Amino acid sequence: MRILGLTSFKHDTAAALLEDGVVRAAIENDKLVRHPTRGVPDNAIQFCLDDAKITLNELDAIVLATDPIRGWLRRSAARATLSHIAPLAAARCQADEIERLAREIGDLRTLKQLKQRDAAGAKVTTLDHHACHAASAFFQSPFERALIVTLDKEGDGLSGTVAVGQGTKLRVLKRIPFTDSLAWIYSEVTRLVGFRAHEDEHKTQWFSLEGEPTFKDVFLGMMRKPGDPLPCLNHSFFEPRAGQLVFSNKFYEAIKCPAIGELNGDHSRALASSIQQACTEIVSDLIAHFLKTESLDQVCLAGGFFQNLLIVAHLEDKFRSGNVFLPPAPGNAGTAVGAGLLFWHHQQQKPRPQTMPGVFLGPKFKPQEIKDVLDNSKARYSLQSTETRKLDAAVELLKAGKIVGWYQGAAEFGPRALGNRSVLASPWAAFIKENLNDYIKHREWFRPFALAVPEEDCDVYFEASSLCRVMNSLGRARTNCDPTVLGFSLPDGRIRLHLVERNSNPLFWRLLKRFGECSPAPILLNTSFNLFGEPLVVTPRDAIRSYFCSGIDALVIDNFALSKHGAAQVVAGTRAPAISEPAVLGRGE
Ligand SMILES: [Fe+2]
Repeated sequence: MRILGLTSFKHDTAAALLEDGVVRAAIENDKLVRHPTRGVPDNAIQFCLDDAKITLNELDAIVLATDPIRGWLRRSAARATLSHIAPLAAARCQADEIERLAREIGDLRTLKQLKQRDAAGAKVTTLDHHACHAASAFFQSPFERALIVTLDKEGDGLSGTVAVGQGTKLRVLKRIPFTDSLAWIYSEVTRLVGFRAHEDEHKTQWFSLEGEPTFKDVFLGMMRKPGDPLPCLNHSFFEPRAGQLVFSNKFYEAIKCPAIGELNGDHSRALASSIQQACTEIVSDLIAHFLKTESLDQVCLAGGFFQNLLIVAHLEDKFRSGNVFLPPAPGNAGTAVGAGLLFWHHQQQKPRPQTMPGVFLGPKFKPQEIKDVLDNSKARYSLQSTETRKLDAAVELLKAGKIVGWYQGAAEFGPRALGNRSVLASPWAAFIKENLNDYIKHREWFRPFALAVPEEDCDVYFEASSLCRVMNSLGRARTNCDPTVLGFSLPDGRIRLHLVERNSNPLFWRLLKRFGECSPAPILLNTSFNLFGEPLVVTPRDAIRSYFCSGIDALVIDNFALSKHGAAQVVAGTRAPAISEPAVLGRGE
């Protein structure tokens, strides 16, 4: 049975194709289009169909991770209370909601017309957004029975659910309505701190480690009621303005800050630390409460809120690492997979396979396709005819302190670069953090870089859980670890870590091993291959454009190697553009 799973039309849209309950292809629309999109994820749908070499009429089901009408009804009910205290604001809210409903129904109609044009027999089924988040977590977890907590800003009128998964069934215990949304408050504080709301929450997370949680109790008083484990906003801290809820004077007085004007650095740090710690405590207490009442030990997490690695790492410490699970794509994109799994397991009652979720589900390109793009771009490159030569070339560059774009195989599905669309560097290279930041990433000084290590070597240098295989949690460097590696630790002693499994990414695993033979440890800096502000690269053209438009020193793309410092550094050879010949230099004209 072929199921096409689609996200809601709001943001981070994606498509996933499942065959008999196994995810065969998945990609975010933004990565293909190269800018934020909303609506029907046409490009992602087309990729999934092309990958399976099928058309829409060969699908058995199309499932959508949103129910627009139910979402509208829930949001309208939640905002009805506003009409008593601010009728004008309530009217504006309602007008905005009707516009959103019309847009979403229009998108749904577009999808159905797309299907009809192809004479497809598959019905379009709409599913609850948070149920899809829950399914993406539980059905990809190794657990037979577990608590499931989903939290995001808002999806179908909810900001979260608490559920129990057992076998192929999900049972909802509690629904958390919008506006009782931890993720929304976190975004508003992100704005207050000086970053972009709904974009830069990851920055607030890392920034929180720089300050003291001076105002934690203010946020705890604002976001939950005594005796209630669920988030619940104290409305005295908010007031309606221009159709939206904003912080009230009571809030600004509590955090000792003027409502207008920039915060100083210490104040921003304290606010970031306070919201981070308050959210951590509320979520941690919520999970502890429901684990106890449901007599469970294990918990699955999903929703954009759980892309906060500091919270996940804390939960792993508290509930033991093997008891906490997140899917590779915990945010909205992952609901495309979740919708498919919910339909397959919960609705069709099909048994769960014993396979681990994959991440290399995106587009993959043939060597000739890559060579054509290289030739067209008039790039000088060399062909490394064997895997050994390719690894040697990459290791030579990394040893020389070069920053290397590493583009291999299929693109990752999910927010992390896991060794197929990565920028790599030696942690021991001089000024490497500064060079990565100044010439490529343009990131704030407090944001950490991740280190990749073969999974079986991890224990020598780090403490880490299996969630680090998809960079969904943090590790800790051992105190006897190499001082350079220790230097990548966060202020709280944790470290961003990518555990590389031999089975899931054998090529990247071998690169780390080869690098380890001539370095203090088999550890490489791994950061996402993209230009500042752009999604992860997908196509060879994306990669070559990013390589030439940034300070990346060299690029190893499939078996081709490019270097800005002279091809001789990559490999010795003579010009011969045929890709079947060993170790040659090419030059497109
Ligand atoms: Fe969501």
